Amino acid sequence: MAQGFTVSYGSNDAGLQPVVLLFMGDTLALPDVAGRLGPEFPALFRSAAEGEGFKGKAGSALDLVAPQNVPAGRVIVIGTGSDADRAKINWTNLGGKLFAKLPAGRTASILLDIPGADAAAAADVALGLSLRAYGFEKYKTKKKSDEDAGLPGAVTLHLADHGAAKKQGKARDGLAEGIIIARDLVNEPPNVLTPTEFARRASQLQKLGVEIEILGEKEMRKIGMRALLGVGQGSAEESQVVIMRWNGAKNAKDAPVAFIGKGVVFDTGGISIKPAAGMEDMKGDMAGAACVVGLMHALASRKAKCNVIGAIGLVENMPDGKAQRPGDIVTSLSGQTIEIINTDAEGRLVLADVLWYVQDRFKPKFMVNLATLTGAILVALGQDYAGLFSNNDELAQRLFDSGKATGEKLWRLPMGPEYDKIIDSRFADVKNSGGRYAGSITAAQFLQRFVNDVPWAHLDIAGTGMAAPNSDINRSWGPGWGVRLLDRLVKDHYE
Ligand code: BES
Ligand code: MN
Ligand code: ZN
Repeated sequence: MAQGFTVSYGSNDAGLQPVVLLFMGDTLALPDVAGRLGPEFPALFRSAAEGEGFKGKAGSALDLVAPQNVPAGRVIVIGTGSDADRAKINWTNLGGKLFAKLPAGRTASILLDIPGADAAAAADVALGLSLRAYGFEKYKTKKKSDEDAGLPGAVTLHLADHGAAKKQGKARDGLAEGIIIARDLVNEPPNVLTPTEFARRASQLQKLGVEIEILGEKEMRKIGMRALLGVGQGSAEESQVVIMRWNGAKNAKDAPVAFIGKGVVFDTGGISIKPAAGMEDMKGDMAGAACVVGLMHALASRKAKCNVIGAIGLVENMPDGKAQRPGDIVTSLSGQTIEIINTDAEGRLVLADVLWYVQDRFKPKFMVNLATLTGAILVALGQDYAGLFSNNDELAQRLFDSGKATGEKLWRLPMGPEYDKIIDSRFADVKNSGGRYAGSITAAQFLQRFVNDVPWAHLDIAGTGMAAPNSDINRSWGPGWGVRLLDRLVKDHYE
């Protein structure tokens, strides 16, 4: 996180910083708050706008350096387009865009009062600013100052309703922290982030009142989680399952909602070993579990009025003399036997046992799992949409809508018996790979055999959860994908 970077809220009369950002629509009529910049500002702005051909189009900016007789050293005017354009703005992304416009080492004021920007929009802008400020620098021994790193100083958001914005901003703080926790976990190298270290970090949620239970290999063996254990058996590191419980509903007996994450802290492929090129990326094969931890942080921080289970399966998939082989048959917690065709199709084995465990023990309203499950989802959807698979249209629609609202977008793919039969096994009840065709769908069919009719959705985040391209709100390898999406799902429908 950028050390010196903070966001605060101020009234429209509070003192201005040396750099001022001002918003306007596409009519070149300045908003009322522009009055703060003195009587000479409008004429100055008009002639500069004319000179630059600036028309206030959404996303455009006009930079006025050292404007005469204006109480700021620099004014950056940001276009937000027409009223219709403004209604479509994702304010969080806009916050990230603004961050990029702020000069290094300078404090700034953002005058936000324009039609369509309410307290919630201001809080979203603040969220975008702080998410964009995140960097994962802990292993760089040569530290740059914030200014040398191009980072701006503190920012004040000015608006009439600043009290309400501050309140809403507080609620967003836990969300920002949750996303940053998820990013840190995804970025962390695999020698540091072992299954036990991951479990230790998840346990920190106790401080927020989240109940934590950890199952080690001994406990898992006792109850029969042999699908998960098989994946970890070639690793020197002990596999772990972490159960997180947030009891926020009025009635402690309300059925919980449940989120389950794949946490393969490193995926070599095992005996079906992966090629060397790019294998280092497989430290991110725990992005699903990272999201669940970040989400639990966000929900507990804002004391969400809902009972929530988070469950993550943490393993390392290694080749070894003791490792699982193709051809092995394991008995899962559900009792179903699984023929291992490919030891690189390990995520579904981990999830099979955790999904079964969660539905059996907690009888949840629904289960949503997140997993960097298949390379095939990258082929189908690239890095902009996660794959959505579900046995329940209402849950799928709600997830889809939350995706639209937050910008963490989902695209639903089909499921059905014609795909399910592809994973029938010659020797066991099911096999863990159905071959190349429809690879993401057959992986989802596999998971569905372990959810026992509970409303369920699977998000394949192999494309969105790691190795993220730069975006407005993220410059880091681990985007913390899914925390905003699921926080929104809970907020809109389950509390
Ligand atoms: N962790 C990988 C999937 C993955 C690929 C995640 C690229 C992120 C980026 C998963 O465990 C895997 O190896 N899946 C195999 C399945 C196959 C063996 C049936 C795959 O996608 O090739
Ligand atoms: Mn794999
Ligand atoms: Zn994997």
